[in-house]
Amino acid sequence: MRRAQAGDVVLLVSEKDRKSFVRTLEPGKQLQTHRGVLAHDDLIGQPLGSQVRTHLGFAYYLLPPTTDELVRNLRRESQIIFPKDSGYIIMKLGVRPGSVVIEAGTGSGGLCLVLATIVGDDGHVFSYDVRSDMQRIARRNIERARLSHRVTFRAGNVTEGFEETDVDAVFLDMRSPWEALDQARAALSGGGVLGCLVPTANQLVRLIGALDAHPGFGFIEAEELILRPYRTVPARVRPDDQIVGHTGYLIFARAVFPPAGDSAAQQALSGDSEDAQENLL
Ligand SMILES: C[S@@+](CC[C@H](N)C(=O)[O-])C[C@H]1O[C@@H](n2cnc3c(N)ncnc32)[C@H](O)[C@@H]1O
Repeated sequence: MRRAQAGDVVLLVSEKDRKSFVRTLEPGKQLQTHRGVLAHDDLIGQPLGSQVRTHLGFAYYLLPPTTDELVRNLRRESQIIFPKDSGYIIMKLGVRPGSVVIEAGTGSGGLCLVLATIVGDDGHVFSYDVRSDMQRIARRNIERARLSHRVTFRAGNVTEGFEETDVDAVFLDMRSPWEALDQARAALSGGGVLGCLVPTANQLVRLIGALDAHPGFGFIEAEELILRPYRTVPARVRPDDQIVGHTGYLIFARAVFPPAGDSAAQQALSGDSEDAQENLL
C-alpha cells in the first residue's frame, strides 16, 4: 500500500462537488478549504486513495494527481491548452522520452507541464515567451509539479529566432504563428514536426496559406477535436447538457527539404543547417 509522504504532490478532491486542490505535503502546513481545514501532518502517512476529513468533518479523497488533474489545477493567467488537445498534440508531435521540444509561448505552462512529463529526464523542453510575467507563473507551476529540471525558460520574441537547432518538435501557441515559421524551420531537424494551435478560423486560413507557401514544410494537416463528456449516474447515463464547443484548431506540418534541383525553393529556405545543405546536394 502506498502512503502519502512529506514532499509528495497530492490531489485532495471532494466526491460531492469534485472541488479539488493540488498541494505538496509539508510538515506543519495547513490546507484551508471552503469546508474546513486539513493539516498536512494528518495527511502524511495516510494511504493514497483513502478518505480524509477536514476539522468540520467534510470528506476529501487523498490521491496521486494524474497529468490531467495537474493541468486542470494549474494557476493560470492565460488560456491554457487543456488535456483534450494536449494529449493529442503529444501524439502528433511524436514526443516521447528523450525528445527535445520547443514551445512558444509559455503562457501559464499548461502544455509545458505535459511536454515536460513526457520527455522524461533524458529529454528537454525549451519554452519561450515574450512576457516575463507569464513565465513567472509558469515557472511556479512547473516547480510545483517537480519538473523544473526538464524545462529551460527563455524570455524573448520568437520572431527573432530560437537558440536551439535540430530539435524533434516545435509547438507554437501564439497569436501570429505564421511570423515564426522560418525560425521554427531553422530549429527543427529534417523530418521534425511543427504543431500550432490557433483559436480562430481567420488565423487558421492565414497559417495554412503561409505553411503551404513555405518550402521547408510539407504534409500539412488541420484538425479540431470535440470532446463529449457523459454523466455517470448509473440510472441516467447520458451526455452532459453543456459541452465546450470550441477550444482551438490544431495544425501540424513536417519539416522537409525542397527537392534537389528546385533552386528557388532551396534559396527561399532560410537558415540552412549543414544537415539541410547535405540533403540538398
Ligand atoms: C495562449 S498563451 C500560451 C498558453 C500555453 N500554451 C499554455 O498551455 O499555458 C500565448 C502566449 O504566447 C506569448 N506570445 C505571443 N506572441 C509571442 C512571440 N512572438 N514570442 C514569444 N511569445 C509570444 C504570449 O505572451 C502568451 O503568454
